[in-house]
Amino acid sequence: MRVAMIGTGYVGLVSGTCFADFGHVVTCIDKDAGKIDALNAGTIPIFEPGLQDLVAKNVAEERLFFTTEPDDAIREADAVFIAVGTPTRRGDGHADLSYVYSAAEEIAGLINGFTVIVTKSTVPVGTGDEVEAIVRRTNPEARFAVVSNPEFLREGAAINDFKRPDRVVVGTESEEAVEVMRELYRPLYLNETPIIVTKRRTSELIKYAANAFLAVKITFINEIADLCEKVGANVQEVSRGIGLDNRIGSKFLHAGPGYGGSCFPKDTLALSRIASDAGSSLKIIDSVIEVNAARKKKMADKVIDFMGGDVNGKTVALLGLAFKPNTDDMREAPSIDIVEKLQAAGAKIRAYDPASMEEAGHMMSDVLFCDGPYHAIENADVVVIVTEWDQFRALDLERVKSLLKTPRVVDLRNIYTQDYMNAHGFEYTSVGRSY
Ligand code: UGA
Repeated sequence: MRVAMIGTGYVGLVSGTCFADFGHVVTCIDKDAGKIDALNAGTIPIFEPGLQDLVAKNVAEERLFFTTEPDDAIREADAVFIAVGTPTRRGDGHADLSYVYSAAEEIAGLINGFTVIVTKSTVPVGTGDEVEAIVRRTNPEARFAVVSNPEFLREGAAINDFKRPDRVVVGTESEEAVEVMRELYRPLYLNETPIIVTKRRTSELIKYAANAFLAVKITFINEIADLCEKVGANVQEVSRGIGLDNRIGSKFLHAGPGYGGSCFPKDTLALSRIASDAGSSLKIIDSVIEVNAARKKKMADKVIDFMGGDVNGKTVALLGLAFKPNTDDMREAPSIDIVEKLQAAGAKIRAYDPASMEEAGHMMSDVLFCDGPYHAIENADVVVIVTEWDQFRALDLERVKSLLKTPRVVDLRNIYTQDYMNAHGFEYTSVGRSY
């Protein structure tokens, strides 16, 4: 099959590369000439394990192309994917669809023969209808179907998530389009991946409902963690105790500093707006948004309390800044709120993150970015583990102790245990674990 992928952001680049690796011929299109030049020179603009090699392989095998010129690729395509950004619109929580709609107009003038137009971007319910109307209006003769095909990729694990998904969701009423989509995903039949075919609006909602449910799960366990601290319980044991019930499931029950990233915060807000626009209410989601935002700030209070209520003039060493490991993404990362609040309380911040320090440099000021975890810890009064990168899981604790002014650790990801840290001579606190 021939695929045109509009947008070389996270979703477009990963999806385009993986479709090429499935054996299809894929052209990734972006208006940003600098980005396309870089990609053609083999430079990947995002940090995603395995992506660089997979791009190089498929470029070398002449199945993956990058261009700023959409014409030929769209004309020849069996499927054109719209994978442009849908940021939160300034001032309200709605998704900004202007990039999606301008892509639709561009596609309309170029398609040739039956073409499936696929929205891969996360878009509010009814966007597919609007895309269809735009294409129809711009090119009344065109033969096409608009399909919703949401992505469920996690940053840091995106290639595996694409190639071994739990399910593929295809939203369309066109049989012809379903056949094209099945052909595109045919390599997944070997793993017997379920392909769910629904109406387009249902598919659009599935994406938001999935992300919102995961955000609920995380926020639920975070509140249970707070309760554990008050009543002498241990949230990791609670997670295990409830997660082994198949109806609940054990994933996404890790308590921490609150969810961040480019998806959960944006999508929960957009879903809440979709509901209120439709005259429906989603009180659970509204609470989750509020609780999570407050939680990120509360994590700084946790550090301050641990330091006896005062961090003025103290040095805090942060390990990890990205919103999760294996990414350089700083969007909505809890570290931003933590740094802001600790600085307001008079603390000096040293920090180390294996991937996100350049990004972090644009988002926080007066932070000393260090060369490694031990450099960050040097002469600090306390270490705060913010992101659970593997390299922080097995620190040389004797070295940590010798570098710190006082051996104190706040572990916001629960990667160490109370007994272990106490045995190594640390004062230690974590999230939701009274023991
Ligand atoms: C999320 C979804 O997991 C993907 O399925 C979806 O495709 C993607 O959004 C999207 O809409 O594009 P992502 O934002 O990359 O993926 O990251 P997650 O791994 O889901 O983590 C999100 C946040 O939740 C992180 O801040 C993480 O630290 C936090 N989290 C996750 C917890 O605090 N506890 C957990 O148990 C799990």
